Amino acid sequence: MTLSDNCGRPLLNLRISVTQRCNLHCTYCHREGEVKQANRSAEKMSPDEIVRIAKTAVNLGIQRIKLTGGEPLMRQDLCDIVQGIAHIPSIKDLSMTTNGILLAPIAEKLRTAGLNRVNISLPTLNPETYKKLTGGNLKQALAGVQAAAKAGFCPVKLNMVILKGINENDVADMIDFARQTGTVLQLIELDPINVSGDYYSTHHRFLDEQEAILKEKAISIESRRFMHNRRIYHLPHVTVEVVHPIENTEFCMHCTRIRVTSDGKLKPCLMRNDNLTDLLTPLREGATDEELTQLFKQANKLREPFNKN
Ligand code: 5AD
Repeated sequence: MTLSDNCGRPLLNLRISVTQRCNLHCTYCHREGEVKQANRSAEKMSPDEIVRIAKTAVNLGIQRIKLTGGEPLMRQDLCDIVQGIAHIPSIKDLSMTTNGILLAPIAEKLRTAGLNRVNISLPTLNPETYKKLTGGNLKQALAGVQAAAKAGFCPVKLNMVILKGINENDVADMIDFARQTGTVLQLIELDPINVSGDYYSTHHRFLDEQEAILKEKAISIESRRFMHNRRIYHLPHVTVEVVHPIENTEFCMHCTRIRVTSDGKLKPCLMRNDNLTDLLTPLREGATDEELTQLFKQANKLREPFNKN
């Protein structure tokens, strides 16, 4: 069974924000489109609650789950969450997006607990630029990348948000680094969410020129139909994906996701906060599996393309 929305888009992916806490403060961060909570120190959902939500999703045909934040590794109980979700029968893929800073010591343990893949945010290989952009220490993030590759996550992806005037000239270096480390590079266009209008107009750039270069260098090119129709460029010994969401009707038409916010609300679109469905309150008040399923179905019907033809 797979749910589809009113535009016929299947619901295949779930992104669960497990915390709003983060050990970095990236200037470009969209915070998964969430409104900042006043009290971010305490986690809102327990591992059991997160696993129950994940189970409901998998029973409705969602095959892939990604843990996001904030920074998921800020949670001491992350392995319990991973283990609980990984054991749900018929789940196909469990992954996590992380800044990698805290990953090295725990990578193996997460792999053993059942995490399949990681995406590591890495906007640059320049230590000063990294410090300026994220407040963090590049060495620690790179140790995270190495540890992830060693632990056998496959693939390890590097998320590089392209920022005009900051890291737009670092792409060739990142491609080399991805090749050396056996990782996949994702070039991501800056989203306007949760960044100031000023920041966006100063640093946003379309990725057309980057794509033109990739096209020239590629041995082959694919489109991922169930992943926003994004393009994948296979270069010699390295793969580069391009994520281009802005004013892109194709991107929205091929969106197959829904999100759970860190406070347990179903969020049909990254770009919106006016159509959330609270799951956590009913769950705590004793909702049955059937009732949770109905809430999922209701939220699925609220999915609609943000950019329309
Ligand atoms: N625009 C595009 N991508 C972003 N990310 C974070 N903020 C933005 C933004 N404003 C990406 C980062 C991170 C992932 C969760 O989202 O690359 O890895």
